[in-house]
Amino acid sequence: MNKFQEVQQHLVQNSYHWVVTGAAGFIGSNLVEALLKLNQRVTGLDNFATGYRHNLDQVRESVTQAAWEKFSFIEGDICQRGDCARACEGADFVLHQAALGSVSRSIDDPIATNATNVDGFLNMLVAARDAGVRRFIYAASSSTYGDHPDLPKVEDRIGNPLSPYAVTKYVNELYANVFARTYGLESIGLRYFNVFGPRQDPNGAYAAVIPQWVAALIRNEPLRINGDGETSRDFCYIGNVVQANLLAALSGEPAVNQVYNIALGERTTLNQLYQMMRSLLQDRFPHVAGHRPQYVDFRRGDVRHSQADIAKAATLLGYQPTHRIGEGMQQAMDWYVRNLSP
Ligand SMILES: NC(=O)c1ccc[n+]([C@@H]2O[C@H](COP(=O)([O-])OP(=O)(O)OC[C@H]3O[C@@H](n4cnc5c(N)ncnc54)[C@H](O)[C@@H]3O)[C@@H](O)[C@H]2O)c1
Repeated sequence: MNKFQEVQQHLVQNSYHWVVTGAAGFIGSNLVEALLKLNQRVTGLDNFATGYRHNLDQVRESVTQAAWEKFSFIEGDICQRGDCARACEGADFVLHQAALGSVSRSIDDPIATNATNVDGFLNMLVAARDAGVRRFIYAASSSTYGDHPDLPKVEDRIGNPLSPYAVTKYVNELYANVFARTYGLESIGLRYFNVFGPRQDPNGAYAAVIPQWVAALIRNEPLRINGDGETSRDFCYIGNVVQANLLAALSGEPAVNQVYNIALGERTTLNQLYQMMRSLLQDRFPHVAGHRPQYVDFRRGDVRHSQADIAKAATLLGYQPTHRIGEGMQQAMDWYVRNLSP
């Protein structure tokens, strides 16, 4: 039995109380679903800034009635200390996902990004400390590597941030570290690299590349590739991210108060990604065979290449990604086809 299987078995036999912030979002709703399926009690907190009620409806449809009854939802804002305190009451673990994502959004409105990602983060740390939670797990980001040239990215070698978003995610790590030293609050930061999968929002100006492109291909709409398409990313399926969160919550002492890369340790260019999507969709949507992307300017704040070294997470957390990009893409595509088809 591997570490993740052990953790799942432990959870089925032991019920804890979890807080998931950003519960109506992409990653948060997948965490809620996984926890409820493992018989856990979950409190979700979300203000629907970028999340949706329909994500929670889908979770409800995918779990038993008994599991759903273990979920309570607070419509609230992490910028309000009272909402954070209410969510953390009696909790064992916090999985803090709420934030304003997107490098571009942060360049357009750094104040809004800072308010949620830094002030809101600090409110959640204080609430978790005051509630005496066992551990605070939070969504960090690969953007923290900034302009550091090394590939693959190793946790302790970071460069200068390239966007306000990246600054906020690095500040999260600094605060978590200080809360561990000053107040003894155990935490683990998970530096996600380009996560994708069911329920990732395909709409809006700040949509992530995979859902945005799937939607464009299915709807036969124009699709833009920023730069020459040779920009690369370490795309990580949501199932791997769920695994990392559960391992982080229950891992032993040496793993605590650290940050970890959570990805696959592989690199896929945007051109390869586009071809992969076309071949997965063209049987179901024949127009996709004739679809061509438009190449436009590089985007401000984007790093050219990104690839994680996942050895630290493998060694200290027992993280073993279950889905490579192709497997994850297949599952994500099936979901998008069901949810986006006219
Ligand atoms: N998706 C990725 O590739 C990726 C990569 C690195 C890091 N992350 C981080 O993972 C976390 C989750 O991202 P996601 O992709 O699920 O995005 P998402 O936008 O789908 O989810 C974020 C959720 O947080 C909620 N939220 C935002 N501001 C809030 C506030 N003030 N109070 C309460 N709730 C609020 C939103 O309504 C949304 O439901 C974020 O912290 C993000 O920065 C994501």
